[in-house]
This record gives sequence, C-alpha cells and structure tokens, in this order.
Amino acid sequence: MELLAGKVAIITGSGRGIGAAAARLFAQHGASVIVSDLDPTPAQAVAAAITSSGGTASVVAGDVTERDFPQRLVEAALDQYGTIDIIVNNAGYTWDGVLHTMSDEQWEAMLMVHNTAPFRIIRAAAPYLRSTAKQEIQASGAATARKIINVSSTSGVYGNAGQANYATAKAGVVGLTKTLAKEWGRFNIQTNALCYGFINTRLTTDKAGGETIEREGKQIKLGVPETLIAGLTMLHPMGRPGTPEEAAGPMVFLASALSNYVNGEILEVTGGFSV
Ligand SMILES: NC(=O)c1ccc[n+]([C@@H]2O[C@H](COP(=O)([O-])OP(=O)(O)OC[C@H]3O[C@@H](n4cnc5c(N)ncnc54)[C@H](O)[C@@H]3O)[C@@H](O)[C@H]2O)c1
Repeated sequence: MELLAGKVAIITGSGRGIGAAAARLFAQHGASVIVSDLDPTPAQAVAAAITSSGGTASVVAGDVTERDFPQRLVEAALDQYGTIDIIVNNAGYTWDGVLHTMSDEQWEAMLMVHNTAPFRIIRAAAPYLRSTAKQEIQASGAATARKIINVSSTSGVYGNAGQANYATAKAGVVGLTKTLAKEWGRFNIQTNALCYGFINTRLTTDKAGGETIEREGKQIKLGVPETLIAGLTMLHPMGRPGTPEEAAGPMVFLASALSNYVNGEILEVTGGFSV
C-alpha cells in the first residue's frame, strides 16, 4: 500500500541518516521527494538510488542556515513538482560541550540550524500553503491535508548534560511545532514533531571514529564517547539503538492521511528509553 501516492515532500538533511532513510521510504510510498542536504554528493546518491528503483526524487543542495536557501528550496519544489504537500525539517547536527566552556558561536549555531532554518523554510512555504488551502476551501469546502514535520530530540524534552545548546534548540522545535499547529490547523495543515532518542547515525556513533561536519571553515566533531554508547545500550529497554529506517517509519505516519487528525503532537520515538 502506498501511503504517500502523488504527494510532494521536501526533506532537509536527507543526504544521510534519518533523513536519507525517510527519503527512501517516502519514495517507496509514492511521494516525489526533494532530497536536500548541505553535502551534494550523498544527496545525489540518495536521489539516484530512489530513481533507479522507480521512484521520483531530485536534489536541492545547500545550507539551510543560509538566508536565501529556504526560498530557493521552496521555489525548486514548486518549479519541479507544482505543489508541496509535506515539509520535513530534519537537517541538524550536534556541537556538544559543557555549558561553562560553551562559546557563543557554538550556542548560536544550534539555534540557527534547528530553529531559525525551520522557521524560515516554513515561512517561505507559507504563501503557497496558505493561499492554496484558502482556494481549496473556497472551491470545495475543504483543503487537502498537508503536513509539517519537525525533528526534535529527547534532549529537548528532558535535557542532556553536555548539550545546553542542542537541548535548548530542540525544545524550541517543540514550541514552534505546537504554535504552528494552532495557527495552521484551520488550513488542514497538521504540524507535528518527532522526538528521537538514540538512533544509529553518525551523531550517535563513537566520537573516536572521527566523523565531523564542516561549519564556517571549522571541523566540528560529531558522535558521542564510546562509554556513553555502552551505558545507553545497557540501560535501553530494547538493548540497542534504533535504525534510521525505524526512525523513518513514524515519519511516514505523520506525513500520511493516517495522521489527518493528529496535530501539535510530539511523538517520542525512543524504543521505550524515555518511558
Ligand atoms: N541520531 C539520533 O539519535 C538523533 C536523536 C534525536 C534527534 N536527532 C535529529 O535527527 C536529525 C537527523 O540527524 P541524523 O541523526 O540523521 O544525523 P546525520 O548526520 O546522519 O544526518 C543529518 C544530515 O543533515 C545535514 N545537515 C546538517 N546541517 C545542515 C545544514 N546546515 N544544511 C543542510 N543540511 C544539513 C547533514 O549534512 C546530514 O546529511 C537531526 O535534526 C538530529 O538532531 C537525531
């Protein structure tokens, strides 16, 4: 069964990890996907894999924190597919450190990528989404359901030592989500957030592995200490992190008609870790 047949989805940060798994799963469910990422090479690989297995995808590479990028992203989706049904604000990373040594740059980078960028992307899509819904309501009495999905974290809901910047930003995602749910519910646009706990991506692998993200000429180390991974695994009710594919499943639910009366929710996808 295709849950997203005929839908057009923008997924930021879909060159890797959870976003890439979501792009593949959305396409399997019939959506045309805009694969958007800071890094063009992995984004192109994700889109190529989708198209070679019969799906529809195209790449809009760029940095979500660049001021003109949100408009470019929205225009590209409308130019290529003529509509936007689903926006997934997934792009993000961590820049950990204890609060007393955290720089302003480190703090502001997290608010910029997790709060300001999603806000600007949603705002850039607002004229299209709102006017289309109004026209549909005028023509037939009801607007097509459309979806905004924001990605939060257990750090944003429960806090996490070493992540004052990330936790604050991911808590901001919750506020953004609930507010938009209240503002746009009447346009039949459901806004929800996914709150992940421990999903196996480069953000949660051993820091000693040397994964980095380049930001403003700096190589920022990603990952967590091996001892933390061992501790989390031991305490986890399922005894393991989730896979990106398992993280993408509930995203399809929130993107599909199955969630047409789910609005303003923060769905925790933690394998029971947050219970
Ligand atoms: N992995 C987890 O356990 C976990 C837990 C909670 C929340 N999250 C959130 O899930 C989302 C996806 O993370 P992931 O674990 O798949 O990490 P990932 O590093 O595997 O994928 C994130 C992608 O986002 C892209 N990206 C980062 N900054 C960007 C920018 N400024 N512009 C455009 N693209 C950018 C990266 O290039 C990367 O391809 C993030 O928002 C993250 O904070 C992850």
